[in-house]
Amino acid sequence: MCGIVAAVAARNIVPVLIEGLTRLEYRGYDSAGLALLNPTLTRLRSVGRVAELAAQAAGQTAHHGIAHTRWATHGVPSERNAHPHVSAGLAVVHNGIIENYVELKQELLAAGYVFNSDTDTEVIAHLIQHTLQSAPDLFAAVRLATARLTGAYAIAVLREWDDSIVVARHGAPLLLGLGQGENGGNYAASDAAALLQVTRRMIYLEDGDVAELRRDAIRIVAADGTAAHVPADRPVHESTLSADDVELGEYRHYMQKEIFEQPQALAATLEMIGGAQTLSPNLFGVAAPEMLGGVRSVLILACGTSYHAGLVARYWIEQLAGIPCSVEIASEYRYRVSVPNSEQLVVAISQSGETADTLASVKHARALGMGRTLAICNVPESAIVRECALRFLTRAGPEIGVASTKAFTTQLAALFLLAVTLAKQAGRLSAGQEAEQLVALRHLPVAVQKVLALEPEIKAWAARFAAKQHALFLGRGHHYPIALEGALKLKEISYIHAEGYPAGELKHGPLALVDKDMPVISIAPNDALLEKLKSNLKEVAARGGELYVFADADSAVDAEDGVHVLRLPEHYGLLSPVLHVVPLQLLSYHVALVKGTDVDKPRNLAKSVTVE
Ligand code: F6R
Repeated sequence: MCGIVAAVAARNIVPVLIEGLTRLEYRGYDSAGLALLNPTLTRLRSVGRVAELAAQAAGQTAHHGIAHTRWATHGVPSERNAHPHVSAGLAVVHNGIIENYVELKQELLAAGYVFNSDTDTEVIAHLIQHTLQSAPDLFAAVRLATARLTGAYAIAVLREWDDSIVVARHGAPLLLGLGQGENGGNYAASDAAALLQVTRRMIYLEDGDVAELRRDAIRIVAADGTAAHVPADRPVHESTLSADDVELGEYRHYMQKEIFEQPQALAATLEMIGGAQTLSPNLFGVAAPEMLGGVRSVLILACGTSYHAGLVARYWIEQLAGIPCSVEIASEYRYRVSVPNSEQLVVAISQSGETADTLASVKHARALGMGRTLAICNVPESAIVRECALRFLTRAGPEIGVASTKAFTTQLAALFLLAVTLAKQAGRLSAGQEAEQLVALRHLPVAVQKVLALEPEIKAWAARFAAKQHALFLGRGHHYPIALEGALKLKEISYIHAEGYPAGELKHGPLALVDKDMPVISIAPNDALLEKLKSNLKEVAARGGELYVFADADSAVDAEDGVHVLRLPEHYGLLSPVLHVVPLQLLSYHVALVKGTDVDKPRNLAKSVTVE
């Protein structure tokens, strides 16, 4: 989604803006732009890569500037729709969607403002300009104007001859960076990765906050301080991200790097339990012993890959803890009439912690009186983490590739810990059984490392897929969500149409699609459903379908004509989905390489989906 960087400093901030935008490229964008003050306004915009904007900005110097990568919502990707948008000498960059922009536009058109783009953002620029006619300064004008906006936004605003930059957030992420050392200055950005180049000292703004940045001072005012400009006290966080976390290093793509980082990401996430033989509910927060105690059912809310993690967790929670668990796509749950249950634990799963639908679904659950909320999230201090009463932070490190990989496997580790904790509370695990599950969990990093060694064989398979238009992924039981995830990965980065199905559903419809041009990828672990799955595979083979089977070392499935088999080194019981997703990630990555698609920034997609 859109990315914002703003800087005011004694140094030349143009390189800071460009480097910041480069760091935000992973979020997905189609155009980029910046506005500099010298002290009059210079605006530069380009469609395409930040590198093109950087070329335009070469030789520019400034001490005040705002910059933006745009992911189109209102209006096609084009230079005229790229941010910043201007009104006289005032410029605005914006992330989010303004829902009442049509009404505001009518009002501003009637007042004589001229619109040069199709965006909702231009409305903000003119509205602030208009408000300045009666407001004492830019800060006051932004506060008054944003009070009229409905929807979600993070904005940064500057205007000619003014030595401040004003930023505001409501429903879209924005943080401040406090400059350090002789270069000093103050900064704002959509995420910390953009500002690590200048500082580690960050302040996460809250919804409703408006902040003013000057070279040597900042002030923040919360929405509820309206007339009085009461300063808001926001803690300063020292970011623990390292520059290496956001560098490609030896890898060609972030997705590749992140697939191979999974052993380390799992180990870091599991560090939280150390060598413990038994889990404490405190793992999920200080209020967890009390909140998890009376839990009678679980509702998981998430989107995309995080939703698939929730689907796997349902099998674990019901099997281990004997507690009913439902999993809902957040964008559906938030708008449907459901039956609230205050004894239900609501679990929001999100890599970014900023996904608008997931955030809104948790707010909806809370509004229905469901206060037992737990966030499983990869980004500390994100909106979803702050919204929930309990939290478990996965330690996957920054995930830059749009296609989620290491976030998924670490979410699974966290969800398994939750299932074991609930099982223990329900009195369904003996001390010995609990210790056994923890031993299996701790072995995951090593087991995943062994699966990664299958890459050469998977690469060879990928070459055969690249020319296909469609693919079918089959799984059963707790591997069915892995089939869904495999299909999602393939479609998002290789643009091959793919569907995930529970293998038992095949003959209820999708079998009609199977012919020699439809590769069928099947997950065939050596579990109780293997024999049933083999019958399903026979149904495919009988129709001339080409089968690609990911089996376990000891699965009784043999390669034959039209049936290709790859064996994972270990057979892993309940945690097997964590291993079986890895070859599917590698498969989609290598298919995308053969097809030459933009692996880390697939078309039309964004990393952190902060709009509905
Ligand atoms: C797929 C993918 C998306 C995200 C979804 C939720 O590879 O990355 O489907 O999983 O947009 O994002 P988070 O987990 O940040 O809430």
